[in-house]
Amino acid sequence: MAKVALQKLGKRYDDGTEVIRNVSLDIEDGEFMVFVGPSGCGKSTMLRMLAGLEDITQGDLMIGERRVNDVAPSKRGISMVFQSYALYPHMTVYENMAFGLKLAGINRDEVDRSVRQAAEILKLTPLLTRRPKALSGGQRQRVAIGRAIVRKPEVFLFDEPLSNLDAALRVQMRIELARLHSQLNATMIYVTHDQVEAMTLGDRIAVFNGGVIEQVGPPLELYNRPANRFVATFLGSPSMNIMPAEFAVDAEGGRKAIVGGVTAVTLGDGDRRIPGASGAIGIRAEHIELGVAGTLDVPGRTRLVEHLGEMAIAYIEIPGHDEPVAVKLKADQGDIQIGQKVGLRFPSQHVFAFDANGTTVY
Ligand SMILES: Nc1ncnc2c1ncn2[C@@H]1O[C@H](COP(=O)(O)OP(=O)(O)O)[C@@H](O)[C@H]1O
Ligand SMILES: [Mg+2]
Repeated sequence: MAKVALQKLGKRYDDGTEVIRNVSLDIEDGEFMVFVGPSGCGKSTMLRMLAGLEDITQGDLMIGERRVNDVAPSKRGISMVFQSYALYPHMTVYENMAFGLKLAGINRDEVDRSVRQAAEILKLTPLLTRRPKALSGGQRQRVAIGRAIVRKPEVFLFDEPLSNLDAALRVQMRIELARLHSQLNATMIYVTHDQVEAMTLGDRIAVFNGGVIEQVGPPLELYNRPANRFVATFLGSPSMNIMPAEFAVDAEGGRKAIVGGVTAVTLGDGDRRIPGASGAIGIRAEHIELGVAGTLDVPGRTRLVEHLGEMAIAYIEIPGHDEPVAVKLKADQGDIQIGQKVGLRFPSQHVFAFDANGTTVY
């Protein structure tokens, strides 16, 4: 297995579009690293650069101790699994997995051993003689992963491998991938636009946006201490509530955040970086306190309630802000009525403040 180092990598396509800008990142030996970000932010391009399927315009790519910018894809010690499984329809599961090894001139016995071992790991043994059309989506995806495993790569690359599966199967495959990672102890780099996959699979997550990495860290660190508004809103469901705010200094020198003319929260210690101007505050739906109208800081009116079974989310209109604020309801609050007037409180320990550039300042 190997560590992977991205050193000031850049990518400009022939038409001049700069898709990856100065990305540096060290991926540890055996780490499960997730690249997450919205569609078009450069995740696939980055992965294809690592695989050698796309030229690197700038910077150095190290796999292990080797600089591999100019090394052919087949010589980099990587295997890539794509969203489209790209199996050969006329070959059996066994032949699909064996094909690459045979092509590489590996002898029959060793090919057989590798394929059967991978099939065991992926629970494909009973299916080895089937053709892809006789397999479910999840089984096909497992064959595609099997084809990567038999090559015994130092690094696995996955590009949205679960996107074509239905929701229940995605959950199951997520668990299998996590198991596979601990079993193989391999370095894995996994691309997804799905923040739930990122949160559940990654040892660390790199959040991509517009060809740069916004923040890198363990899932909960990013969730609890987002460096900026983009990361704050990208991770978590529903998305963190963001409200434009004016910051004012009160008589004791503390900072108040004013939303729609109302003091929404008085921030606690550690608020000195706030410039005393306009910006935004953010708070997650599960952290907002909901109470009787007139009793809490911010007045609101219920616009909509979503009942999701194990919990409900109320969307509350507040003054001076077009977007309703999402509030996760406690078990005994589920009977709130549409149109009902309520009060909201934003506990200061759960509030984030962002400056005009979107950088977290509190
Ligand atoms: N061959 C290409 N030539 C020019 N631009 C490209 C090419 N391939 C991808 N792009 C552009 O690069 C950006 C990133 O694409 P991609 O890496 O596929 O994003 P993601 O995988 O994050 O959705 C997009 O704006 C896309 O249009
Ligand atoms: Mg992509």
